[in-house]
Amino acid sequence: MSPSTLKVLLSFIIYTFTLVNISRAGDPDILTDFISPITGPIDANFFTYTGFRVLVGPQNPSPPPFKVLKATMIEFPSLNGQSVSYASLQFQPKSINPPHIHPRSAELLFLVQGSLQVGFVDTTNKLFTQTLSTGDLFVFPKGLVHFQLNADDKAPAVAISAFGSANAGTISLPNTLFNTSISDNVLALAFKTDVSTIQNLKKGFST
Ligand SMILES: *[C@@H]1O[C@H](CO)[C@@H](O)[C@H](O)[C@H]1NC(C)=O
Repeated sequence: MSPSTLKVLLSFIIYTFTLVNISRAGDPDILTDFISPITGPIDANFFTYTGFRVLVGPQNPSPPPFKVLKATMIEFPSLNGQSVSYASLQFQPKSINPPHIHPRSAELLFLVQGSLQVGFVDTTNKLFTQTLSTGDLFVFPKGLVHFQLNADDKAPAVAISAFGSANAGTISLPNTLFNTSISDNVLALAFKTDVSTIQNLKKGFST
């Protein structure tokens, strides 16, 4: 094979891979209209999820500081194969959704009540942060570390987030690092600190 033929062949291979990657922005395509987990007829109830009614009904008198309600393919099986899902985020005053990652999707957050400080860090370690007002939308790019904080000491905040995956996945950084069995020694070295500091951090997660 001549060097120029090889060059053309290599460019073709690179081009093909690039095209395939571009066309895979969401979940893999399915070859049916939808995926039913049961055999036999289904009706519109299969495409209806009522788990968010609690958001518009009477509120819990003693809500937790931060609460997530998800409508992914786990809770709402008809989303399987549709590349979409929702989450609602309810923040009591002075509460946080700790730094985390969604490995399979961007997140488009719509703030429906209160105000929220949000931020994400890109792969060059640059922080993008913003204070959102009710009615604002903010996008957290796919796979980047991000967080939300309700800094107000009196008013709650409520947001609805849309995802371009039926199962975006969540990796909570504090939980992944300090609530698994990664050894204290590895963490002490990684955080340039001592083992007792790591053990103190881990204490906050033991239930
Ligand atoms: C720590 O991990 C356990 C087991 O996965 C989980 O049940 C618990 O909620 C986690 N603790 C915190 C504080 O996230």
